[in-house]
Amino acid sequence: MALHSYIFVFVSLLLLNEARGGGVAPSIRLNDGREIPSLGLGTWLGLKRDGSRVEVQDDSVEKAVEYAIDAGYRHIDTASIYNTEDQVGRAINNKIKEGVIKREDIFVTTKLWNTRHAKEDVVPALRESLKRLNLDYIDLYLIHWPVGLLANGSFDTTDNAQTWQGLVEARDQGLARSIGVSNFNEQQLDSLAARTHVTPAVLQVEINLNLQQPSLLEYCRRQNITVTGYTPFGSLFPSKAQDDAPPPRVDDPALVNIANKYNKTVPQIALRYLVELGVVPIPKSTTRSRIEQNVAVFDFSLTQQERDLLKSYDRGYRTIPVLHWIDHPYYPFEKRQH
Ligand SMILES: NC(=O)c1ccc[n+]([C@@H]2O[C@H](COP(=O)([O-])OP(=O)(O)OC[C@H]3O[C@@H](n4cnc5c(N)ncnc54)[C@H](OP(=O)(O)O)[C@@H]3O)[C@@H](O)[C@H]2O)c1
Ligand SMILES: *[C@@H]1O[C@H](CO)[C@@H](O)[C@H](O)[C@H]1NC(C)=O
Ligand SMILES: *[C@@H]1O[C@H](CO)[C@@H](O)[C@H](O)[C@H]1NC(C)=O
Ligand SMILES: *[C@@H]1O[C@H](CO)[C@@H](O)[C@H](O)[C@H]1NC(C)=O
Repeated sequence: MALHSYIFVFVSLLLLNEARGGGVAPSIRLNDGREIPSLGLGTWLGLKRDGSRVEVQDDSVEKAVEYAIDAGYRHIDTASIYNTEDQVGRAINNKIKEGVIKREDIFVTTKLWNTRHAKEDVVPALRESLKRLNLDYIDLYLIHWPVGLLANGSFDTTDNAQTWQGLVEARDQGLARSIGVSNFNEQQLDSLAARTHVTPAVLQVEINLNLQQPSLLEYCRRQNITVTGYTPFGSLFPSKAQDDAPPPRVDDPALVNIANKYNKTVPQIALRYLVELGVVPIPKSTTRSRIEQNVAVFDFSLTQQERDLLKSYDRGYRTIPVLHWIDHPYYPFEKRQH
């Protein structure tokens, strides 16, 4: 190919990126030296408004992951409990076969469920996940909750430091490149690192406009722990918000104003705010246009005044308090009713 053809291809790729509207998330370096793309796709189908689980019944997650990879996502979040690992794996392997990505281009997270906290259960549980994903390694393996459970639903009080040793073993065996935890509070993180001398690379917790967790984020900054933010939209959408959930909703006039200023949507403003807090949001959508929209937040930035307004929506309001575990000795959240 002549030089001008290379230049033509290069410029076309740049323009393609522009057309996507800022849809390539830059990477962040983890405390173990590896990199994580600063926004990912969530693949949990979530809860209905009445609190019951949405069942997986078609290939919508597989399609969503394919749309996401086409839109420029290079980070996918799943968990054994979501029952979507098989679909995530098929989509990734399809895109590898099509030549769109190589395995090393994509960052995949999965999580150890609460019934597998025994140290000797961790590697087998991860091998089962890898089998469903049809992958040889995972980029990030997380302890899903500090709360252990027995198969019959009774509480398992296996020390989290034991479970963590199992994750260290999984990393040493090359099955997980990075390891971390989810839904741990500051004290639990501190105790884990102090007792095992291995600091998690990532903490995944709920972060959104109503639950900004400034002191937990500050702790993680000091420890160089990267925070991924789940349920990044919180109660923005009336179809999902509980009746007692604090504002804002997606039609909030102040948010609509900011969105219009940047030719963006209110959900994009909410995601951009999290990115500017240093949080890695993992918005879930199975709708192609929203998947494309949610990653297009890397071509603008908010002003200090706008960030101050967005900060003012913090109410310490949790959308996922999991109150049926409130009596577990390792329940991580504040024990008050919402
Ligand atoms: N570690 C944990 O314990 C934990 C807990 C919860 C979640 N997570 C992870 O975090 C991910 C995200 O959290 P989440 O699923 O709870 O909530 P979320 O991402 O805040 O919200 C998902 C909902 O927002 C809708 N949506 C997405 N983008 C939209 C847009 N641009 N405009 C309008 N509506 C939009 C989706 O609808 P459609 O899909 O219909 O488009 C879906 O109903 C999960 O999928 C999971 O991977 C982890
Ligand atoms: C976090 O750790 C990584 C890897 O060791 C390092 O490159 C980075 O500079 C650290 N960041 C901070 C803020 O300490
Ligand atoms: C659950 O299983 C454990 C261990 O097998 C047992 O000790 C406990 O009594 C069981 N709990 C219930 C509610 O069945
Ligand atoms: C506004 O955003 C939409 C959707 O990304 C895009 O199609 C349109 O060209 C943008 N308009 C301007 C004026 O930038």
